[in-house]
Parts: sequence; structure tokens; C-alpha cells
Amino acid sequence: MPTSDEITHWDQHHFWHAFTQMDEYESLVIDRAEGVWLYDIEGQRYLDGVSSMWCNLLGHGHPRISQAIREQLDRVAHSTSLGMGSRPAATLAKRLAEITPGDLQHVFFGSDGSSVTEVALKMAFQYWLQCEEPRPQKTKYLALGEAYHGDTLGSASVGGIARFHEIFEPLLFDVIRLDAPDPRSLPEDVSGSQATDYFLGQLEAVLAEHHHQIAAFVLEPLIQAAAGMIFHPAGYLRGARELTKKYDVLLITDEIVTGFGRTGRMFACEHEEVVPDIMCLGKSITGGYLPLSAAVTHPEIYNAFLGDAASGRSFLHGHTYGGNQLAAAAALATIDLLEEDQVVQRIDERAGQLTKWLARLAAHRHVGETRQRGMIAAVELTASPQRHEPYPTELRVAARICREALRREVWIRPLRDTLVIMPPLSITAEELDILGEALLDSIETVTTELAGTPARS
Ligand SMILES: Cc1ncc(COP(=O)(O)O)c(C=O)c1O
Repeated sequence: MPTSDEITHWDQHHFWHAFTQMDEYESLVIDRAEGVWLYDIEGQRYLDGVSSMWCNLLGHGHPRISQAIREQLDRVAHSTSLGMGSRPAATLAKRLAEITPGDLQHVFFGSDGSSVTEVALKMAFQYWLQCEEPRPQKTKYLALGEAYHGDTLGSASVGGIARFHEIFEPLLFDVIRLDAPDPRSLPEDVSGSQATDYFLGQLEAVLAEHHHQIAAFVLEPLIQAAAGMIFHPAGYLRGARELTKKYDVLLITDEIVTGFGRTGRMFACEHEEVVPDIMCLGKSITGGYLPLSAAVTHPEIYNAFLGDAASGRSFLHGHTYGGNQLAAAAALATIDLLEEDQVVQRIDERAGQLTKWLARLAAHRHVGETRQRGMIAAVELTASPQRHEPYPTELRVAARICREALRREVWIRPLRDTLVIMPPLSITAEELDILGEALLDSIETVTTELAGTPARS
């Protein structure tokens, strides 16, 4: 068995980490985990404050999920979804049809969030070629500024976060872009209460002009996560559904982050009684244990792909591990647990405790704003509380706070100057207090240190 030093060395030198500046990376190797606690190779524990990048739903090492995977492993680990099915994937497809809203009932599996975004985009495109009254001119997508739907080239094309996507622009296809409906970015003469109408007005103007070219509007419902937790104004999603129907444009909702209870409903769309044309699911679908994603759609789209094999109407897409049997078994166990333990119905208690912590954090002089929806929260740092001025980017204040939190046994990962709090829904009251205390102390320590540091402009 390799020593800890060897593993650390290999991690530092051979393992090229995602979205990580390897020149600055200080090896942190997770060896095991239980509940909300991650343990590193030296045995040091860290509270998983962002659910291992927003996917761990009910804690690590949950006996029911682990057992489901083990039992499946004893039957078969994987068989293809090309031309054959499997017991867990078929059952999962049926369960997803039951729990997703409206008439969403046909499930196409991918392996991760990015791959399922590609599925949804291509499904929408091919639908317009094959539907009853084909519209081959519908080859474009409408997407939001600051959107994030993954890192493959198609999903990055509909993404709109400059610091992630701009460099690849020569490789990306053109999309029609709308401003993110962020109530903080309203023009001065538009009040907060007019935000929904204002942003829907922008949406309608674009749809009215371009609907004949637009295959689908793709958006993260309610919350644009990677953008730094932009919260859309109430009613935007419902309005977007109505407008896309009016202008004959498909609506793809990316529930890869918001799905499976985190917002306080099983799916974010339910908050505004919206049924999209295609719903993308990923991350928490397996409880965060194994890679799996799903695009769920309704019969009108599905039926457009039917015909005999020679018709060429089959959906021309597939991923080797899409609908993997171990992952499907983990997903089924996760959905069972959500239902049996009434996790979503009981979220209010912990979310209420989180609200109290956010109020304490918001009272800190270097916290400009906090936002929360269910168990998703954001804490916005500010250099100057009076003017809501951000810290200079190069100070990397949020990253410093996260490093400080690590010393207090809490692992979180920032988005620029925004601290994200998104622990597993299974977090206990005591554990949430540990997370809150650590954040508050870390913000205090770092901002006090910085007060003595001359800010560079
Ligand atoms: C809203 C959203 N969609 C898609 C993705 C991409 O998922 P994956 O990283 O599994 O490819 C992410 C990842 O964070 C996401 O936040």
C-alpha cells in the first residue's frame, strides 16, 4: 500500500485537477467520508460545506445507497443502453417520470451534467427537423448571460460566464444571449418590484424578433449557480414558460444543481408550477455517489423521434456509460430515501436555521448581501459596506476565507467574492452551527487581516 507521502506526491504531480491552478495547489487528498465529514489522508476532518461541488445530497457513506450499489455490483456493473435496457435504469426512468412535473415521462440518460446539456440541445434541434410541421430554420439557442451548463463545447456555447468561456470563444457556436435576470443589475429607473416585468420584456423582445430561428431557450431555473448564485426575480420562470409557448420555442430547464430538493421543492420548476419541454438532471440524482444524468421530456418531443429504423428518426446521440446500472441503483436508493424520510417536506427546519446564520453573517461589516433558497445560500463579500464595493479581484478574499475555514474544519469553495453554502440536506443542527461559526470566524479573521493590507487598484 502506498504511503501518505507517496499519494500526496502523486496527487501534486500527476493528478491535474479541475479548475485548479496547479502551480498554487496544496495537495488535499480525501481518503474516506461519513455523513457530512470528509477525512483526509492524515485523518483530519472537514465538513463538506458545498456537498462535494453541489452533488452530495444525503451525506457520504449512507448505508442504503452504499448497499444498493453493492447489491447491483453483485448482479452486473454495466451493460450498454444502446439497444438494451437494465433493471435499475428502467425502474429509474419510471420513477423519474413519476416525480418530474406534468407529462415529462421519457428519460434519456447521460453521464454528467455537461453531457446531458448536449443531449437536450441536440434533442431540441432534431425535434424541430422531425416534428409534424418541421422547422429546419430553428438552429439557434437562446441563453442567459452568466449562464453555466457545463464545460463541453456545446454546453459551454450556451454558457455565458466570461472567465470560464471567453477563451474558448473561437470554438463555440453562436447563441442569442439575454442579460441574466439579476435584480441587482436593474437600470436606475427600474424598481425592484418591476424586475420580473423588465426582464420578461427583454425576453419577449428577443423572442418576437428571433423565434423563427430559435430551437430552445435554455436556463437554470430560479438560480444561476456558477454565476455566483444569481437569484431570478419571482415569476421570471413562469413568464419564460408562457413566452416560450407563445413563440413556439422549446424550454430546457437545467435542474442539475437545483434538482432533488435543494431549493425546498423536489425541482425548482415546481416553485412556479412550470413544466419545461426538457428537464436536465444530474449531480444529486445519485445522491452524489456516481456519475449519472438524465434529460426528461414529454411525448410530443419523444414521438417525433419514432418511426422505422430506416427512417433515420432515432435520436442520434449516446454515451457509453449513460444509464449505468450502478449509478441507476444509487439514484433509485436516493429517491427512495428522499421519499421515505420526507427530506424535502422537512427541509424547512434546517433551512430556517440556515436563515438565522445568514442573518448573523449579513450583520458582518464585510458582508454586503446574503441570499437563500432552501438549502442553497450565498454570502456576498464587500470591501466597503456603505458602497457595496467589491474587494479587488487579485486579493482573492473569498479564496482566503475558504482557506481559513479549512483550518476550522470546514471545506467550502467560493465563486469569486461569493461564498457558497450548500451542505448535504442531511446536515444536523450541530453541524450547521459548526459551518456557520467557522464561516463567521473566517470572514472576521481575513477581513481584519486585510484591513491592514493596502488594497491595490
Ligand atoms: C447548472 C449546471 N449545469 C450543468 C453543470 C455541468 O455538470 P457536470 O460538471 O456534471 O458536467 C453544472 C456544473 O456545475 C451546473 O452547475
